[in-house]
Amino acid sequence: MGDVEVRALNDITLDIYKGELAAIMGPSGSGKSTLMNILGCLDRPTSGIYKLGGELVSEMNDSQLADVRNRKIGFVFQSFNLLPRSTALENVLLPTLYSRNKANAKQRAVNALEMVGLGARLNHKPKEMSGGQQQRVAIARALINDPEIIMADEPTGNLDSKSGKEIMELLIRLNKEQGKTIILVTHDPKIGKQVPRVISVFDGMLGSEEEQAELKRWTDVNYSKLELLANDKAALGSDAEDQRPEGTGSEKPAENNEVPAEESEGEAEE
Ligand SMILES: Nc1ncnc2c1ncn2[C@@H]1O[C@H](COP(=O)(O)OP(=O)(O)OP(=O)(O)O)[C@@H](O)[C@H]1O
Ligand SMILES: [Mg+2]
Repeated sequence: MGDVEVRALNDITLDIYKGELAAIMGPSGSGKSTLMNILGCLDRPTSGIYKLGGELVSEMNDSQLADVRNRKIGFVFQSFNLLPRSTALENVLLPTLYSRNKANAKQRAVNALEMVGLGARLNHKPKEMSGGQQQRVAIARALINDPEIIMADEPTGNLDSKSGKEIMELLIRLNKEQGKTIILVTHDPKIGKQVPRVISVFDGMLGSEEEQAELKRWTDVNYSKLELLANDKAALGSDAEDQRPEGTGSEKPAENNEVPAEESEGEAEE
């Protein structure tokens, strides 16, 4: 900002796994949108590394960034960003104009609108739809190129609570049923409770070490594995560690000489 340097983000180290549903939360001005813009390949960090699915995004030029965005990411915005004079169908078709994949574009757009429950609103213009419906059109637009990732900056920020809840249910369904990786920014603590992972940002930095360690315990476990575990509550108990398959340690030859001796001693005592 002129001569004043603003560190919108500082010392951020973060892994987000395929198939995760994560909410970025934090006070106004904490750097959520900046983080989102970097993750979404809309902006590059001044320094540091950002890898997306193995591709080194932080070194890419503008056209390479645009290409990654097109292939991998669908965006949803707080204010929907629909073209006012175009129909739902035309709005959803928009990203296909810039995409290499133009095959069956119209059919894909219809499918996407059906998926978000707007199969009967194909020819409605934005002002003929409710806020929740407009946001669903925007989600269909984000889905048209079948991206692995959906990024949403305050997707429920302009909606009443009922429509907001429906939009969250839709995003959760896309994550669960289609395995989309979903990253959203929100101020709503209710949404924070609904999602498996919260990434907290304060003053451009991630939350305290303690908070992040707690979050890391969640994220170190592959999310789909976590879901399987959650189905079997016993496996999440404190003795979950003991459920390693037998013989796991035998791959470490250095420890091998000592471990069996200790184990047999232990057994003898028992
Ligand atoms: N282009 C810019 N030039 C200078 N400072 C900027 C610029 N963009 C953002 N900032 C500053 O960087 C910090 C982070 O901004 P950012 O928009 O990421 O916050 P945010 O967490 O998304 O806030 P909000 O919740 O209000 O949307 C803020 O202090 C902001 O003033
Ligand atoms: Mg913001």
